[in-house]
Amino acid sequence: MILAAEFSRSANARLTDFSTSSLERGHFTLEEKRASSSRLVQLDEAPEELCEQETRRRRVRGALIAQFAASKPEHFADAVELIRPHVDGVDLNCGKYQASFSFEYRTDNRAEILEFAGCPQSWAYDEQIGCWLLRHPDKIADMIRAAKNRVELSFPVSIKIRVDPDLKITERLVQTAIHAGVSHIIVHGRTRFQASTQSVSLSSISFAVSAARGSVPVVANGDAWDMNEVRKIRKETRADGVMSARGLLANPALFSGFEVTPPEAIKNFVHISTGYGLLFPLFHRHLSFMLESQLSRHERAYFNSLCSYAGIIDYLETQDPNITIPP
Ligand SMILES: Cc1cc2nc3c(=O)[nH]c(=O)nc-3n(C[C@H](O)[C@H](O)[C@H](O)COP(=O)(O)O)c2cc1C
Repeated sequence: MILAAEFSRSANARLTDFSTSSLERGHFTLEEKRASSSRLVQLDEAPEELCEQETRRRRVRGALIAQFAASKPEHFADAVELIRPHVDGVDLNCGKYQASFSFEYRTDNRAEILEFAGCPQSWAYDEQIGCWLLRHPDKIADMIRAAKNRVELSFPVSIKIRVDPDLKITERLVQTAIHAGVSHIIVHGRTRFQASTQSVSLSSISFAVSAARGSVPVVANGDAWDMNEVRKIRKETRADGVMSARGLLANPALFSGFEVTPPEAIKNFVHISTGYGLLFPLFHRHLSFMLESQLSRHERAYFNSLCSYAGIIDYLETQDPNITIPP
């Protein structure tokens, strides 16, 4: 997430906050079932009578969406105009401001992000960004309109929200955003008062899906750690898609159906990181997430104590000799 005001005002902020590459979007295989009505139905929700239908596989290019936090329509519009040539869409953050994170290991072997570590929520609230917007839907609508008017009306502008304890407020927010032309809505099923240790409310996400009345796609977010959970979330909320954050940190191949990060993904990550010169702390932390369910407690402690690219690559090579740097 990028602060729109700083991004639009400062070349330095743009340099440090955003970079991209032509390879960043990736390509994916999309599986579709064609129903007799020629409506496209996702495999996991196809009614039985459609199961005999032909499955089509298409290669599709991924989309790159930049997320901003903003409190003023002109800041958001300025930032959108500047980033527009480099992305396929923009998102307005209406949730918690996530400045940085730290993590620890839970007893069930999943990395638990301590969202509040170094996370200046009260500052963000005072700045009227992030979850402050949840109870100011007209402000959100002004920002969506300002952004679209600045670039082109068809340019995708989405919002990512948390649910409100009072679901009527969520309903009004969803309806106001749709009226302003939002392209899709991502709904994190926790309120702004809840930490990630508290379970996600699928019924609240489902409520938000109903509130959208099919006008725009709604993506459900929260606690999708594997494909079984993804299917469950989809089924219970009837959302058009599912977004994962911590699940993907732990296993970037989650949506391809892998239960843990496969060696191929680790190898790819090492090659890409060394090729681009990813900052060492980020390289280390991402690998810690990806490997944590595959390492014993002692191995994790050893891995976390490593302090150089070379040390990590040596360690990985002892685990799998194929993880080598290309010439
Ligand atoms: C490391 C980390 C960084 C995040 N950064 C952002 C962010 O920049 N913008 C945002 O809207 N949410 C951010 N989130 C929140 C996630 O998008 C998501 O809403 C939350 O983690 C719940 O989903 P999950 O259970 O799949 O992790 C972040 C979460 C994590 C763990």
